[in-house]
Amino acid sequence: MKAAVISLGSVSSQWTIEAMKTYFKVVDAIDIRGLEVKLGKKEIEILYNNKPLGEYDCIYAKGSFRYAQILRVLTTAYSHKCYLPLRAETFTLGHNKLLTQLKLQEAGIPMPKTYLTSTTISAKNLLESLTYPIIMKFPEGSHGKGVMYADSFASANSILDALTTLNQPFIIQEYIETNGTDIRAFVVGSKVVASMKRKAAKEEKRSNIHAGGSGETIELDSQTKKIAIKTAKSLGCDICGVDILESGLGPLVIEVNLSPGLQGITKSTKINIADKIAKFLFEKASEFKNDREGKVKTSEILNECGIDREEHNGKEIIANLSLRGKKIVLPEIVTDISDFDENQEVTISASKGKVVIKKF
Ligand SMILES: Nc1ncnc2c1ncn2[C@@H]1O[C@H](COP(=O)(O)OP(=O)(O)O)[C@@H](O)[C@H]1O
Ligand SMILES: [Mg+2]
Repeated sequence: MKAAVISLGSVSSQWTIEAMKTYFKVVDAIDIRGLEVKLGKKEIEILYNNKPLGEYDCIYAKGSFRYAQILRVLTTAYSHKCYLPLRAETFTLGHNKLLTQLKLQEAGIPMPKTYLTSTTISAKNLLESLTYPIIMKFPEGSHGKGVMYADSFASANSILDALTTLNQPFIIQEYIETNGTDIRAFVVGSKVVASMKRKAAKEEKRSNIHAGGSGETIELDSQTKKIAIKTAKSLGCDICGVDILESGLGPLVIEVNLSPGLQGITKSTKINIADKIAKFLFEKASEFKNDREGKVKTSEILNECGIDREEHNGKEIIANLSLRGKKIVLPEIVTDISDFDENQEVTISASKGKVVIKKF
């Protein structure tokens, strides 16, 4: 099995690559900055240092918001070819705090009240109506660097003027009092594999480790874990760090990190997260490969029967119907030909002796 980690080469990425070598035969370290994508032909072309990027069973692509678009194109190109723990749309959603909040809203995940205005005048009106303190944030900031704290209308208004002059987009958020703490839940698959409580440095509101915060291991209650896992799922990613504020009304999600650091949380929790990631990637890549080979085999059988998969429309398969309890189970070949997946919305019409399933 062959894997690639596409990243900026941080220490966390190096740890992950090393851990993956225990499971995968080959693990290539690919620097995002050497990538080039070409659209326009039938297939998307991905070049790495001017040569086509090869075939892999697993590509773990991550990086900062600056690379969100190239990572989206790359993962789109590989989406049917190998296992990707972060799906294409994850990059454009997860690297923008407003789009993240929008997705969380759709999924019914609790979050602080968040505001976006379209003009400076409406922002000013909003600032006049809010209760202080508040938070103002760059949608694409990280490490706490785009987070501003305003304890009065006067300070918020001056921040607003500066942001407007700099043409810098921002969101406004209610301030959740947590005594300078937040929770980082590290999600791998459908589990929170490690979690820590971070405490901001003295005289500081942001609890990021990069902003001087310190972390200590914490066992999360099941509701907080569920929220973290649901957050990851709603953004289409299997590996991420979810930032949560513990409010009086329960956990509120503020951010999803698609390239969460390993050093701080490994030190605080003493959990070998790199190994957990590596093992998970290997298991998922193996599953993907088996599924894919199954599909290839089905194509071969269809070809042998003289049935062209592409032109198969409506050709009949003769089989014995199988029931699980009272539920009809269709042969795997039907799934392959129809290309339906688990979340596909369909209409099912049934009459005596006939069932038709159609894409909705
Ligand atoms: N609405 C908020 N209320 C209180 N503290 C906040 C709020 N939003 C952010 N913070 C603090 O600022 C830190 C950084 O915010 P976050 O949204 O996670 O951005 P970043 O990408 O910079 O980490 C958080 O970890 C938290 O300590
Ligand atoms: Mg954060």
